[in-house]
Amino acid sequence: MSIAAQHALPPFLTAKGANLALDGHDLTQMAAAHGSPLFVFSGRQLAGNAKALLAAARAGHPRARIFFASKACSNLHVLQIIRKEGLSIEVNSGGELWKAQAAGFKPAEIVFNGVAKSVAELELAIGLGIQAINVDSAFELSRIAEVATRLGKVATVALRIVPGIGGGATAGIQTGSERSKFGIGQTELTEALDIARSHAGVLDVAGMHLHIGSQVLDLPDFLESVSFTARQAQEIAQHLGKPLRHLNLGGGYPINYVHQRKGANTGRDFDLSAFAAEQPAAGMMEAVARAAARALGPQPEIFFEPGRSMVADCALLLTRVENMKRRGATPWLYLDGGYNLLLDSAAVRWYYHMVNASRMEAPADADFRVVGPLCDSADCFFDVEGEYLWDSLKESLAGIAGVTPELLATLKAKTVRLPETRALPAATAPGDLVALLDTGAYSLEEMFQYCGRQRAKAVMIAEDDSIVTLRDRDRPEDLVDAAERMGMAAAR
Ligand SMILES: Cc1ncc(COP(=O)(O)O)c(C=O)c1O
Repeated sequence: MSIAAQHALPPFLTAKGANLALDGHDLTQMAAAHGSPLFVFSGRQLAGNAKALLAAARAGHPRARIFFASKACSNLHVLQIIRKEGLSIEVNSGGELWKAQAAGFKPAEIVFNGVAKSVAELELAIGLGIQAINVDSAFELSRIAEVATRLGKVATVALRIVPGIGGGATAGIQTGSERSKFGIGQTELTEALDIARSHAGVLDVAGMHLHIGSQVLDLPDFLESVSFTARQAQEIAQHLGKPLRHLNLGGGYPINYVHQRKGANTGRDFDLSAFAAEQPAAGMMEAVARAAARALGPQPEIFFEPGRSMVADCALLLTRVENMKRRGATPWLYLDGGYNLLLDSAAVRWYYHMVNASRMEAPADADFRVVGPLCDSADCFFDVEGEYLWDSLKESLAGIAGVTPELLATLKAKTVRLPETRALPAATAPGDLVALLDTGAYSLEEMFQYCGRQRAKAVMIAEDDSIVTLRDRDRPEDLVDAAERMGMAAAR
């Protein structure tokens, strides 16, 4: 069996003898030079994704624009590459707005989402005259009108509407229904439109926005959101007596996570169907843009806000095995990175594929329980909560008539989201490097210092093969802030 088949690697990952390489750079040498844990990004993959998504959107609709969802990765080096590729940016807070400007985006290239925008954030956005503030409630629209009146400005806004469409790989990342906390529901819309009409001098309702979820696997969900937009935009336009200039169809486009590929070593009984995206983001986006051109015509601009599909497959996280144990028949591996670096592995039980980056010549032929370094039982790369819940569910269901093995299997698949074990080479041991793949989205943004853990360093192999430091590892002194330091000095 070839290495590629054993490990189902994407093309920019290769084996250099026993070692894993990214864009031709030996990752064990990278870890020796920069330490671990270490995020390594591929500049080529990032620029390639940006080009591919923009080309796909434009192939489907001549006036399509892409606003990269910067919450997925707002590192300034990453943002600058995205800007140079001709993309615009979506921000979700005053902080992200500040970073967008620092990365060189112009106001007309910025849209601002968010469910709880403060007066100060609105003053900043209205003062700059950004492309659009996506309004999340009738209350927020009246707050925007107040701020705009006070500043003597016109605020350009789009109404974020709840479409009632349930896309998204897990419940926590489905954002298109009234069960989620996002957007303006139908009952509130009339109130919002009345506010828009009565403040027409300071509110320019330029567009409509929706976002149905993240890692949305089914194209029909996106197509339904286009039909919804066509109906809703017409209603809004009639109400306001003018057509909308842009329609923002949000993000949520899926990536083809490595473990979905044939031959991936996912552990023995992991149900891949939950993540089985058949259509890559660019193809889906082109189909959606085409549908938008048909349903909405070529005149209004069509905005997309991809995040995950731009950056997820651009990076891996290199971690070192620091300890091992045997519990019963199963060996356990203790990595130097856990959910302090990959919050989604605990928060939404997200699966990150693992490869032993220092034993690429060995087959992944043994099952390991893999855990992180934190003093927290939930810091596991298996679903400890789901396994507990499943055990107690099984106990409560025992002896109840009509509980079939099929029902039990379905309940187990819904309850336990991650595989019990990971398949790695049998010789995997302390000192080895384990790479967690597809970790470029949301990870740098969500790192934190729990248990006195320093946030990881991140580097990028740039398109010219130079190594760019995206961010340094925290220093020990970064674990205390300036006020703590002053307090300590005063106490001495
Ligand atoms: C309004 C909005 N747009 C875009 C995105 C990006 O989603 P994804 O990373 O799934 O493309 C999000 C993610 O939460 C969002 O809330």
